Amino acid sequence: MELELIISEIKEKLESINTIQELANLKPMYLGKKGKISLAMGNMKELSIEERKTLGQKVNLVKSEAEKLFSVKEEALNKALIQSKLAKEKIDVTMPGVKFNQGTIHPLTQTIMDLEDLYVGLGYEVAEGPELETDEYCFEKLNLPKGHPARDMQDTFYINPEWLLRSQTSPVQVRTMLKKEGKPIQIICPGKTYRRDADDATHSHQFMQCEGLVLGKNITMADLKGALLEMAKKILGEDKEIRLRPSFFPFTEPSVEVDVSCVKCGGKGCSMCKNSGWIEVLGAGMVNNNVLRMCGYDPEEIQGFAFGIGIERITMLKYGIDDIRNFYSNDLRFLKQFKEAK
Ligand code: PHE
Repeated sequence: MELELIISEIKEKLESINTIQELANLKPMYLGKKGKISLAMGNMKELSIEERKTLGQKVNLVKSEAEKLFSVKEEALNKALIQSKLAKEKIDVTMPGVKFNQGTIHPLTQTIMDLEDLYVGLGYEVAEGPELETDEYCFEKLNLPKGHPARDMQDTFYINPEWLLRSQTSPVQVRTMLKKEGKPIQIICPGKTYRRDADDATHSHQFMQCEGLVLGKNITMADLKGALLEMAKKILGEDKEIRLRPSFFPFTEPSVEVDVSCVKCGGKGCSMCKNSGWIEVLGAGMVNNNVLRMCGYDPEEIQGFAFGIGIERITMLKYGIDDIRNFYSNDLRFLKQFKEAK
């Protein structure tokens, strides 16, 4: 084939090529070892030196012209490919977004987070203990020997005579004291608790408490009152007041029942607070000397207070929830109301 014709043929073929793949198939037909250009050199051996030289130069020219044509085409195809990709992947920022379903924080979790936030800010540490406890830690070391009538205050799920589902978070007090071996303590312990109660609007066989324990030198009832007043204000509102009433717990002496000014009427008296202006929220007291001694503390050296907040109870008061079972029924209509909870 005439060398001149080759170039015009390449030009023609390139016109109809649209993909890199097609281009890659075409290229060796002209520029490959057995391509048309190489073949055009024919049988060099039959030519004179002079003729070989002229033909060689001509072939080289055609070759470089052909290479140029292919590379220009390749570049154009690559450009077009990028352009079409860009056009296809264009994002319309004005399109409405995909709806994203975000969960809500459970109101009980929110209360625990608020309590941790408050007490950690006051220098407390957050402690934990197991839900499967021993009778020794849940009762004996809390000044409740076997057969003590006060055991009836908490109807307990026993696994066997030694092991039980903890009926209160107070065993974490015992565990912490035994670990700290006479040193000062400042902890809260939120967690699950269990009692053999029939479930109704105000009782649940599984519920939650937040224990508090502070031991040190010269800790008094005034410190206890301060710690609980802060809690009432943080969870139930800045305008809240508290009052302490004498009560009984085997592990504290003196013991108190703590009331908060009524969340509904503010203290004037209404049906919710039975016209007293106060609502009972938790139990507390100064740690009983017997407990201190049994857990390795010298009551002459170190003393302090403990409290046990019912998480469901204060959460119900905070939001005006009238049935404790709502917390555990997983009804989204209930849970979604706490979207804005803080
Ligand atoms: N553990 C007690 C209860 O469950 C509450 C409490 C804790 C009382 C700490 C005094 C001190 O009823």
